[in-house]
Amino acid sequence: MAGQAMQVLALNSSPRKSGQSKTELMLGHLTDGMRQAGATVDIVNLREKQIKPCIGCFTCWSKTPGQCLHDDDMRRELYPMWQAADIVVYATPLYHHTVNGLMKIFLERTLPSIEPFLIPGDTRWSHPLRHPHPDVVALSVAGFPTDTAFTALSHYMRYLCGDKIRLLAEIYRNGSEIMTKPFCRERMNAILDATRQAGVELVQSRAVSESTMKRVCQPLMDDPDDIVRLHELAWRSMIAARMTPEVSEKRKRMPQPQSLEDFMLLMRMGFNPDAARNLEIVIQFEFEGAVSGVCHLVIRDGRLAAIAGPADPPDLTVRSPFDTWVAIQSGETDGAQQFMEGAYTAEGDIGLLPRLGELFGRH
Ligand SMILES: Cc1cc2nc3c(=O)[nH]c(=O)nc-3n(C[C@H](O)[C@H](O)[C@H](O)COP(=O)(O)O)c2cc1C
Repeated sequence: MAGQAMQVLALNSSPRKSGQSKTELMLGHLTDGMRQAGATVDIVNLREKQIKPCIGCFTCWSKTPGQCLHDDDMRRELYPMWQAADIVVYATPLYHHTVNGLMKIFLERTLPSIEPFLIPGDTRWSHPLRHPHPDVVALSVAGFPTDTAFTALSHYMRYLCGDKIRLLAEIYRNGSEIMTKPFCRERMNAILDATRQAGVELVQSRAVSESTMKRVCQPLMDDPDDIVRLHELAWRSMIAARMTPEVSEKRKRMPQPQSLEDFMLLMRMGFNPDAARNLEIVIQFEFEGAVSGVCHLVIRDGRLAAIAGPADPPDLTVRSPFDTWVAIQSGETDGAQQFMEGAYTAEGDIGLLPRLGELFGRH
């Protein structure tokens, strides 16, 4: 007879709605892999549950050993699921360098699982476990685009588990806020594939191989300077428009470039290779006004190069006040109408003009 399927409890503590949370995105792929390898997985969004904070009364250690006095979703539903699980995944957004408040509330409410007595140790004293503890997988995402962001969380997770609880894997993904941007699509697909593979490996061998982990943690962008500049432009634009990231993302707003270099960076980042298939073109921009200068974009084999200076020769030349073109590119004004009104001019293959929105950033 086949053995019982491995039971996994996957806890997501992001307060963000479905579709916006990057913790959810990573956890979804990890648990897909776990299911694929035969595990039974329950995913719980902690934000949807009623979990009261521990009040430190020690009722669970004295009056009703092993049972909390709060009669809520934690006691009735989540604690029994946690206790029965073979693996628990603590999936948390990184907040102030560690688990977020919701996850911390959950963790504190597992106090009934330990007894009050003391076990001395060299680096860490502990309490006896009242019942077997599930193996732990830590999963987190962080806004900072570097793995050093997880230093404190990793230390906490290792210390929390100590030598009695098995910490099977720590899966940490930096640069979370650019994960869903079109310019990261290729890398992100590889990262999500690797995250799914990590789920398979966890069920098959209770560990994640070094090569899979390396693929999960690969950089999203090659040049850290580009990330810093993009981050700054995006936030400055949202502040100027008094707009939250959620709304800005929904409207596919392009950040406001402050220079020709910014413009070229945003064109590279907003480029949609799917719309550029079989296209071989060179587009030149000649700007005046707030920013003046010439640059050109070479599109070939689904790739884009942004180059300062004039092209030799371009297929299309756009001559425009910088602010006018930025407003068109970001979708704030209608390019066709502005063209008819003479707000900018174009020369060469003007049939390409209507395709620019799809080629850059508005997809
Ligand atoms: C209150 C708060 C604190 C944060 N603290 C950090 C932090 O210390 N380090 C970091 O890299 N990102 C930090 N971030 C960014 C989040 O980790 C990032 O937005 C992540 O995508 C959130 O996960 P979610 O999308 O699943 O909600 C913080 C965000 C918030 C709202």
